[in-house]
Amino acid sequence: MRILSGIQPSGALHLGNYFGMMRPALDLQEEGEAYYFIADYHSMTSLTDAAERRRNSLDVALDFLACGLDPERTVFFRQSDVPEVTELTWLLGAVTPMGLLERCHSYKDKIARGISFNFGLFAYPVLMAADILIYDSNLVPVGQDQKQHVEVTRDIAIKFNELYGSTFVIPEPQIREATARVPGTDSEKMSKSYGNTIEIFGDEKTLRKKVMSIKMDSRTPAEPKPDADQNLAIQLLKLVAPAEVARDSEDRLRAGGLGYGDLKKALFDHYWEFFAAPRRRRAELNANLDQVHAVLRDGAARARAVARTVLDRARRNCGLA
Ligand code: TRP
Repeated sequence: MRILSGIQPSGALHLGNYFGMMRPALDLQEEGEAYYFIADYHSMTSLTDAAERRRNSLDVALDFLACGLDPERTVFFRQSDVPEVTELTWLLGAVTPMGLLERCHSYKDKIARGISFNFGLFAYPVLMAADILIYDSNLVPVGQDQKQHVEVTRDIAIKFNELYGSTFVIPEPQIREATARVPGTDSEKMSKSYGNTIEIFGDEKTLRKKVMSIKMDSRTPAEPKPDADQNLAIQLLKLVAPAEVARDSEDRLRAGGLGYGDLKKALFDHYWEFFAAPRRRRAELNANLDQVHAVLRDGAARARAVARTVLDRARRNCGLA
């Protein structure tokens, strides 16, 4: 089974990204042959700073490798290192009905938010379809917000197959459950756009400050807190501390006697410990960037070999070759 997913290079990853997207993606490495790429072509529709794109792409690569992406097992590459995908985008675009793209939520949302609109944003789902179809992917793990794009991919593939004969594997989406909703420092969903994130890597002092800034109510330490399970620090502690530690803190908070300051200190310590090994690994990689570039080069070569075969099949079937 071939599993494929693209990762937006949108800057430093936070706990919400880690538990929502990265951990499930890393676990899926065991389930089949995973192809994971950094979606730098897609990033061009909204980011126009070249240096930032380069840095963000490298950061995502470092983050994934540090957290356990196994480049022997998983084909890990930069989207733009397989330029065949842009040719396939054209072949697919030519059979994609306008109405299919006009119905996409992400496109309508962007229009509604008044974001200056470009052709790339409109064509975004076609490039994504090419990403998926060019590797004969079977399974596409995505968040709920990307489900429609995978459905569009299926529609495009079915249409192409009808018009030109069996060419593409029809992929299945695998929608990640929203159960891993990670609250941010203000108890809204942790998200870069809300400015409430706690990054997984970064400067210790800054991150400690963020954790200590988590909003609490004004009850005194002694007061019993029957709603201890709703406490933000407890919810985060459950993600990064051993279960019995989190349960013990929750009990003490409920009974009264555990102050918020001490609770947040404990949360910071466990969070820091949780990422200790990845942090060391990331520092090592960062000091050996040649190694990281070699991993991405090797991934691109493996991906490209598959992409070439599928693109040639598509070209043949539609009469280009
Ligand atoms: N659009 C996806 C996102 O925003 C990233 C992506 C690009 C992707 N191409 C893909 C995901 C192909 C899955 C398959 O998260």
